Amino acid sequence: MQIIILCFFHLLPAFIAADNYEKDVNKSRISGGASAYPYDFPWQASIQYQTGYHFCGGALIDAYWVLTAAHCMENQQANELRVVLGEHSLSVIEDTEQYRNISRIVINPFFNGARPEFNYYLPYDLALLELKTPVDLNYVVKPIPLADPNQSYSKRVCVVTGWGKTGVNADGADILQMAEINTLDNYACRYTWRYYIYYGNICVYKYGVTPCQGDSGGPLVCLDTNGYVLAGISSWGDIDCGDHPSIYTRITENLAWIHDVIDNDGHH
Ligand SMILES: *[C@@H]1O[C@H](CO)[C@@H](O)[C@H](O)[C@H]1NC(C)=O
Ligand SMILES: *[C@@H]1O[C@H](CO)[C@@H](O)[C@H](O)[C@H]1NC(C)=O
Ligand SMILES: *[C@@H]1O[C@H](CO)[C@@H](O)[C@H](O)[C@H]1NC(C)=O
Repeated sequence: MQIIILCFFHLLPAFIAADNYEKDVNKSRISGGASAYPYDFPWQASIQYQTGYHFCGGALIDAYWVLTAAHCMENQQANELRVVLGEHSLSVIEDTEQYRNISRIVINPFFNGARPEFNYYLPYDLALLELKTPVDLNYVVKPIPLADPNQSYSKRVCVVTGWGKTGVNADGADILQMAEINTLDNYACRYTWRYYIYYGNICVYKYGVTPCQGDSGGPLVCLDTNGYVLAGISSWGDIDCGDHPSIYTRITENLAWIHDVIDNDGHH
């Protein structure tokens, strides 16, 4: 099976695993899917170059902080990037957008990158982006609470969102796409991906729905008693965005690091 980092093109093809599965006939997309109703996902961030080119998603977790995937931030310079909140259509100026520059990129210290000696898996694939000035919180820009450490979020119906490609040969989406998707337990995910799946991952799967390049860094949210919480950040999956589980970084395994960074940022 081929594996790819769900990010932008100059990272492709990142790596190829030993085993080979048949290619799927029907190429799927994050939506399988539907355009999001505007601003239903007010924590969704678009991470862009200063040119406006979207390459990864993110999740607002605080007025100063966006959580994304570490692999999105490899070899990046903070001053060449920007974060957009309050975004719906990437091509249309809707007057809800808030553009912010980044003062600091904090990559999870346990992230190892896609290196052969680690069997190509991406442990702790998370990065925190500190915004130079905080976003203004309102009904279209709102942080997502972090997942409850006492819950596994397995075998649930959750939601993924992003502006990634809507098919392996398609372009990125202009309108934010959303799809309901099932979270697996890691045993079920290992049926496909075997030893690439670690406890700090959470897998999602639904026939016809697959996050794709450009969705990396974006949120997996699940409904808890008080509303949606952030359960995962998009990390990697099938190179063709085909019919296999996709892998997210599990938030509950990273709460200590997240709190350590943002609670000591001088803003709190
Ligand atoms: C591909 O998708 C179409 C439309 O949803 C469906 O009719 C068809 O059976 C699918 N093909 C396969 C091989 O799953
Ligand atoms: C953000 O950074 C860009 C590029 O460095 C710069 O041109 C722009 O003025 C900055 N914007 C703000 C609000 O600081
Ligand atoms: C998790 O469980 C512990 C022990 O049962 C409890 O003290 C704590 O409040 C729980 N945390 C949440 C967020 O529910």
